[in-house]
Amino acid sequence: MPSICNTAGALAASLFIVFAFAACKSKPSEEKVVPPAEAPAEKVEMPPAPAAFPELKIPEDNPQSPEKIALGHQLFFDARLSVDGTRSCYSCHQNEHGNGGETPLAVGANEKQLTRHSPVIWNTAHFEAFYWDGRAGSLEAQAKGAWGGGNMGVGADNLAAKAAELAKIQGYKERFKKVFPAEGMTPDTIAKAISAYERTLVCNDTAYDRYAKGDGNALTAEQKEGWALFMGKGQCAVCHAPPLFSSAMGVPGGLYYNVGIGTAGKADDQIDVGRYAVSQQDADWAAFKVPSLRNVSKSAPYFHDGSVETLSEAVKIMATGGIANKNKTPLLADRGLSAEELGSLAAFLGALDCGATLDQPDLPK
Ligand code: HEC
Ligand code: HEC
Repeated sequence: MPSICNTAGALAASLFIVFAFAACKSKPSEEKVVPPAEAPAEKVEMPPAPAAFPELKIPEDNPQSPEKIALGHQLFFDARLSVDGTRSCYSCHQNEHGNGGETPLAVGANEKQLTRHSPVIWNTAHFEAFYWDGRAGSLEAQAKGAWGGGNMGVGADNLAAKAAELAKIQGYKERFKKVFPAEGMTPDTIAKAISAYERTLVCNDTAYDRYAKGDGNALTAEQKEGWALFMGKGQCAVCHAPPLFSSAMGVPGGLYYNVGIGTAGKADDQIDVGRYAVSQQDADWAAFKVPSLRNVSKSAPYFHDGSVETLSEAVKIMATGGIANKNKTPLLADRGLSAEELGSLAAFLGALDCGATLDQPDLPK
């Protein structure tokens, strides 16, 4: 697979320009742009705010249906999928933690210590590659990876046996027969149902979205200042491009950057090489996917290794250029923001809080 990382800088920069000048260009009609709202006393310059999400791509071989989504919802919450009955998908993607993980590094079935932090999964279906290193090319593949791998511990070779065991649960047996009449309950259909549910986890009605649609009062004055810094002086949108606040959107494979997290004081062979393990491109050494910042204020701890406890600390690291190492991206530099400006940036990120939560369904017996 050819790496897109060599062009990443140019691409991100052009994305940024597109967003920054969206107001001046002719644009698709669904993309709404907020006009500078009627003058707040603070006289903050407000950049245009892209609101509309791109259309979700649904795989042809896994169309959405209400029954399938309901089935996936149950499976997502069902710890019986795991090898020892202790872990459901939800165990590591919980409401209380912004639908990310609680501990810095995830702990899988059989208390297996894993090497990365559980990311927020709101809007995950808008990505085209999954995991911090993008190694899964579809949600379906990701679900099987989580289920067969360390997260749930079943083992890739044992998924069929596990599916057969779960198919003995009468409620599942009946529902699968209805939703997947030809196949019944198999690893593939389980992954398809879970993915169909995940495709409903869309977060697009935050304070930011209301602001972007023209409600000038949806953000506080401090948040508006933070938004201007996010788009302007802080140059955050170069990578965290709205409306998804990740650059992966619309870019096949997503974009990966080395911002230095997890490299400080470590020998090279102790460092998580991130995207490099997938692409074998030197430019991807210790580079990780740009996470979406939606729900970020609720999803501490931060980064792929969960090494940073607070949002203000995470913002400070990003605004002061990340952590130096042999491969750090030049796109991240010290933006010279004052303590007050850093506070405004963090306040703006609070405008990306998703209101909805995942609810616990009744599980089949
Ligand atoms: C033990 C904790 C744990 C469990 C259980 C778990 N996950 Fe995760 N999840 C993680 C971690 C950690 C990552 C990131 C791993 C990496 O990047 O290597 C992740 C990544 C993901 C991603 C990728 C998100 C992105 O933006 O790239 C999705 C989607 C996801 N999990 C869904 C699921 C589903 C579906 C299940 C159940 C089949 C599940 N998870 C079970 C911890 C867990
Ligand atoms: C060069 C691209 C780039 C730029 C510019 C950038 N970021 Fe990031 N950001 C990333 C990457 C990549 C990560 C994940 C790094 C990791 O975990 O190793 C990240 C992670 C984060 C996180 C943690 C999110 C989470 O869920 O753990 C926050 C918060 C954040 N960035 C905020 C900002 C802010 C605020 C700015 C502007 C001052 C900014 N970023 C600029 C690429 C960028």
